[in-house]
Formats: sequence, structure tokens, C-alpha cells
Amino acid sequence: MKKILLAASEGNPFIKTGGLADVVGALPKYLNSKKFDVCVMLPKYLCISSSDRKKMSHVTELYADMPRGREYIGIDKAKLEGITYYFIDNEHYFAGDVPYNQIFEDVNKFAFYSRAVLASLKELNYCPDIIHCHDWQAALIPVFLKEFYGKDPFFENTKTVMTIHNQKFQGRWRIDDIENCRDLPADCRYKAMEAYKETNFLKAGILYADRVTTVSETYAEEIKFPEGGEGLEGVMREVSGKLSGIVNGIDYEEYNPMTDSMLAEPFGLRNITKKKKNKEMLQKELGLKQDSKAMLLGIVSRLTEQKGFDLVNYIMEEMLCTLNVQVAVLGTGEDRFQNSFRYFQDKYQGQLSATIGYSEELAHKIYGGADAFLMPSQFEPCGLSQLISMRYGTVPIVRETGGLKDTVEAYNEIWQTGTGFSFANYDAKEMLKIIGYAYDVFQNHPKEWRLMMKRCMKEDHSWQNSAKKYENLYQELVG
Ligand code: ADP
Ligand code: GLC
Repeated sequence: MKKILLAASEGNPFIKTGGLADVVGALPKYLNSKKFDVCVMLPKYLCISSSDRKKMSHVTELYADMPRGREYIGIDKAKLEGITYYFIDNEHYFAGDVPYNQIFEDVNKFAFYSRAVLASLKELNYCPDIIHCHDWQAALIPVFLKEFYGKDPFFENTKTVMTIHNQKFQGRWRIDDIENCRDLPADCRYKAMEAYKETNFLKAGILYADRVTTVSETYAEEIKFPEGGEGLEGVMREVSGKLSGIVNGIDYEEYNPMTDSMLAEPFGLRNITKKKKNKEMLQKELGLKQDSKAMLLGIVSRLTEQKGFDLVNYIMEEMLCTLNVQVAVLGTGEDRFQNSFRYFQDKYQGQLSATIGYSEELAHKIYGGADAFLMPSQFEPCGLSQLISMRYGTVPIVRETGGLKDTVEAYNEIWQTGTGFSFANYDAKEMLKIIGYAYDVFQNHPKEWRLMMKRCMKEDHSWQNSAKKYENLYQELVG
């Protein structure tokens, strides 16, 4: 039995801001429990809901010497669906209403977290065969492991995997200002950890980890070039021998249209017509016109530039004025996008609804009730929303980038194949054209549209396949 520890800054169901939490919450459940004993270690944020905090019990605590002095590390534990979750407690670092604050606080916070993970493992006498680190927040674990515990027999056989969920976020700050890294050797701080005269947590993790993965095969290629590399393309090319892409799955228990209690009317392949009821109820709940003929476009997303909202803004008026399209948006993020959706909602009452906020329930209702799902990302390491929408027979309209390219097959009207609509260039007019094409199929070729919905629902994007690829990777590392 090999011991695997997942280290990350968020994980379902305890704390989530995006797809990372979905991955960390689902992957452990799908790894073969006869071969792998999997634990997860997360920060115990004060913003974790009180009902989730009640599931935790205190295990032990310790104090560790760090550059700022002796730091408290509490260790809590919870067991969920057979998986053990450990929580690193420190009310100073993990305070606040949200997991991430200002980047300056965050770099020290997650340097602390990474140190605390290793110190806790020793305290718990729990030695993983592999520490699987996710994103820049956990990227210093391979660094501290080598620099501080390199000669410690306890961790002698521990290997590390670094998974990049989004190369844009790297954990960068002025080198000399990051207190919790100050005791690392100068050679490490000013060379391996340095990029463009700043500390770069992600770069350090990539260099120090035994293996590096990212969340789709296309993205694993894109990050080797300036367009997708976010400045680290040279590093990615240097480590290409240990880099691979493993596409994410989605949790088929959580996202199951046949058993989803958040839907007005559960449905499946055999009674796909019941999806209509979900559209009707969604229109009603959101104050959209009760019009079964309108094509209802769903958007559930972080409202950031990455997700292509400048394209959406650009064509919104033209789309709403020329096509019988309705839009249901759910998201939070940059003010400019929140405000533009509020503006459109005011101007196009009954045709566009914007819910600025975070709601699991409404997200499920949109995935279940919309006809199509719009995701025109500038870049997309994997993307889960298009996978969820396909599972609910909601046809994705995407840009061909990263994981969107790997998971959505463009509609071919001659062969009657495909699971969505896609466009290549980051261009608003090109996007509108493809929305227009989808609209035409939806309105004028309902039989073909319905076949496409069925193809979407028949796709297998469960974790089963992807978990096997992680298992192979773990096995390659530790036999
Ligand atoms: P990213 O991780 O880049 O934000 P993904 O597509 O990988 O994008 O994952 C996003 C996840 O977060 C999906 O599960 C999506 O449903 C969920 N999500 C995003 N915004 C919201 C929101 N405002 N309310 C509820 N769920 C959301
Ligand atoms: C990141 C990416 C997204 C990916 C998710 C989970 O947030 O932006 O594309 O699906 O991580 O890996």
C-alpha cells in the first residue's frame, strides 16, 4: 500500500473558489483504495463554514521555529467518504473572509503552510511515499523537503509531484520581503526560486519536484511557448522530460442529472424531454421570459479576463438584439465584468439575468436548465464547467484552447458527430458567428440538436480514466 498525501490550498467540500477544489475533492475517491492510502492536507481557514468545522476533531499541536519566531501549528482531522483530511490550524495566517487576500500576505501564508505540512507529517509520524502538491500555494513543499529535510531519514523515500492547475498564478513577490523563506540557502532563493528578479513559488516547485503535471495534454504543450507560458515557458521546456498532461474528470456522483436534488426535475438519457421542465423553472426563478423557443445560454464562472468576458461584453448587445437568445449568468470576479452584466440585466430585463455571487444550487440549475453553455476562454488549463454542462445535456460553445480543445469535439453536420461548437481565434466576431451557427442548429434542426445533447450526455468524463493515469504516474515514481 502506497501512501499519497495531497497538499492544496482548497478542496471540496470544505473550501472552494474554483476547479482546484473539485479536483482535490474528487481525485482521492477515485484512486484505487487497495493500492493507495490517500490523505489530504488543507489550511484550516476561519472562513470554512461552521458546519464543516464541526466535522473536524483536534489531533495535536506543535510549535516550529520559523523566521518570524516560534509558530503555532494545530492539526485537526476529519474523515469523509473514507478519505482522511488533515487541517493545518493557525488563526493568524488563515484568518479572513476568503482563502486568498493580498498577494503579499498570501506568499508568507502559503510559505508557512508548506513548512507546516512537512512539520506536521513528522509530528504525526506519517510518512507519505508521494506528496502531490497543487498550484503555487503548495509549490514550496518540494523545496523545503529537499533543503530542510534532505538528510532526514524520515523523508528519505518521499517523492513529490507538482500539478499546475493554472500557470498564470505563480506566487511572485520581492525576494527579500518574504520572511518565511528567509532561511533557505541563498543559492536556492536567488537562483531556483528566482524569476524576473522576483521570488516565484511555482517555478521553484517545478524545478524541485520529481514529476510535474498539468490538467490537459494541450495545456502541457501550450505552457512551453510564450503565449501560454506566462513567462515560465523556458522553464517548462527545460523540464519537459518530467512534464505530462492529465485531463481532469468530474465527480459523477455530485454532477448526476438523474439524481441531482437541486434540479426541478431530474432527467437522464431516456427521459431527456424532462430537461425542458428545468429550463422553464430556471426562466421563472431568474425572471426570464417564459419562452421555450428562446435558446437559453448559461454561464457559470469566475468573472475574469481568463474566461473571455471581454469578448462576451463586446457582442452581447448585438447577440441579444438579433437572436432569440436568453442568458443566465452566475459568477463573481472583476468589478468591470460584474458591472457590465448588471448593466445588461437592467437594459434587457427578461432576456438576461445576472446573479453576481457564488451558489452551488443555482450553478446546478443552470447546468441543468440551459440549452447551451458559453465558455470562450482566453486560455483554459482544463475547465470543468464544459464537462459538467455536457453531463447535463447542455451543449458547450467554447474556444479551442487547453482542456476545452481536448474535451469538446466540434459539431460536424455532415457526419453528425461532435459534442459542441468551437472557434479558434480570440475574436469576438468569430465567437458571435459560432453562437449564430449553434442558434441555427437549435432553432431549425431540433432533431440534430437533440442527438448532440445525447452525445454530450454519453461522453465519459468521470474521474475513472484520469485517476488511472495518476495511479500510473505514482507507480512509476515509487514502484
Ligand atoms: P476555474 O477553476 O478556472 O474557475 P473550472 O471550469 O475548472 O474553472 O471550474 C470552475 C468550478 O467552479 C466549476 O465547478 C463551476 O461550476 C464552479 N463555479 C464557478 N463560479 C461559480 C459560482 N459563481 N457559483 C457556483 N459555482 C461556481
Ligand atoms: C484552474 C484552471 C481550470 C482547471 C482547474 C482545475 O482553476 O483555470 O482550467 O479546470 O484549475 O484543474
